[in-house]
Amino acid sequence: MTLTARTPHSDVDLFSDETLHDPYPTYRRLRDQGGAVVLDTLGAWALPRYHSVRHALGDWETFSASGVALNDTVAPMLVGTVLATDPPAHGALRSVLSDRLGPRAVRPLEQDIATRADALVDGLLEKGSFDAVTDLATEFPFSVVFDLIGLPDEARPHMLRWADATFTVLGPMNTRAAQGLASLGEMFEWLATLGPEDLKEGSMGRAIFQAADDGRIRHESCIPLLSAYAAAGLDTTINTIANAVHLFATHPDQWDLVRADPGLVPSALNEVLRYESPVQVFGRRTTRAAETEDGITIEAGAQVLVLYGSGNRDERHYPEPDRFDVTRNPSDHLSFGYGTHACAGQALARIEAQSIIRALAKRARRIHIGRPTRHLNNTVRGLATLPVIGFEV
Ligand code: HEM
Repeated sequence: MTLTARTPHSDVDLFSDETLHDPYPTYRRLRDQGGAVVLDTLGAWALPRYHSVRHALGDWETFSASGVALNDTVAPMLVGTVLATDPPAHGALRSVLSDRLGPRAVRPLEQDIATRADALVDGLLEKGSFDAVTDLATEFPFSVVFDLIGLPDEARPHMLRWADATFTVLGPMNTRAAQGLASLGEMFEWLATLGPEDLKEGSMGRAIFQAADDGRIRHESCIPLLSAYAAAGLDTTINTIANAVHLFATHPDQWDLVRADPGLVPSALNEVLRYESPVQVFGRRTTRAAETEDGITIEAGAQVLVLYGSGNRDERHYPEPDRFDVTRNPSDHLSFGYGTHACAGQALARIEAQSIIRALAKRARRIHIGRPTRHLNNTVRGLATLPVIGFEV
């Protein structure tokens, strides 16, 4: 990497506990420096602005997904996964997932998911106090996604730890990533023992093996695809639901707007996702030199950090980005990514999160919470605990 006097650079550690607790002031400083900033501690480039994030995600030929992990230990383990594969090979892997996760495929699930959300929220209201992370935000996607993938029940006790590890190991090889490696290894080892007969009849997991039998993908791709389903669908949705409860409890005026007009729920969810991006960062590797809108050149072969969470708070794109406003409807937010690798599960995630918001809005005029604690992970942002101490109905 050749730095000139004009190259913006920063000695900030984006993965320190302190920054992970509240990355937004750091993001703002990076955005003010430029569309691309060298992180001295990693010898890599960060893309902090909305435009630079979206541009990189839209140009897979220059910003290759082979660099999705920010360390060299995990990168080889991801070869063959949908997340780390560029077109054209990406297309076949992705189409197997889209068959079952596309908007048309998940629409028939909507009613059942809404009924489950109503039942879960009714039970919690009856209890009066509970933990919104464990009892609501985790319980819900876990039951929905686990059943859809059709994984055997023996994985239930391990799945959350494995999913959390899958995200944290994508960061730089710090203590958090090093600790996650053991869990990741365990997950892949267990997945490798599975055959089609282990996955429930008619499930999304079984369909992956069917696609291999039909010659659409290679048999070696089945386990990496299963891992994509199993990990990607949990922490992301869990954090979204917990963030939603937190934001609505702390912004009662915004909650009043949602309750007064349930038609606002899709817009409100977009705002929750923009305000607290569940995935804060993934990587890319440049295949050739690239230039940002503000004229900064990133060399070929560079590791790049795509800062979704910073792009979503870019004042150059969203006026008053630190204000939580459910009427804003930022449908172009970056939290599901953009372009080739844009989230394959976003239709399902929207149904899950919107069902919970609707179920709460129908029943709770106010949500009263205690002090939340944060869960630190290298790439996803969310809470460890969020005590709900009461409702007003
Ligand atoms: C609110 C919840 C969710 C968020 C915020 C989210 C976020 C993301 C993001 C940012 C990406 C893009 C990665 C990149 O740019 O490299 C992605 C990809 C992906 N997501 Fe999600 N996700 C969510 C829910 C889900 C669910 C429920 C599933 C499946 C059950 C899922 C499956 C996937 C898969 C398979 C990919 C890889 C797509 C590809 O590489 O082509 N996601 N997600």
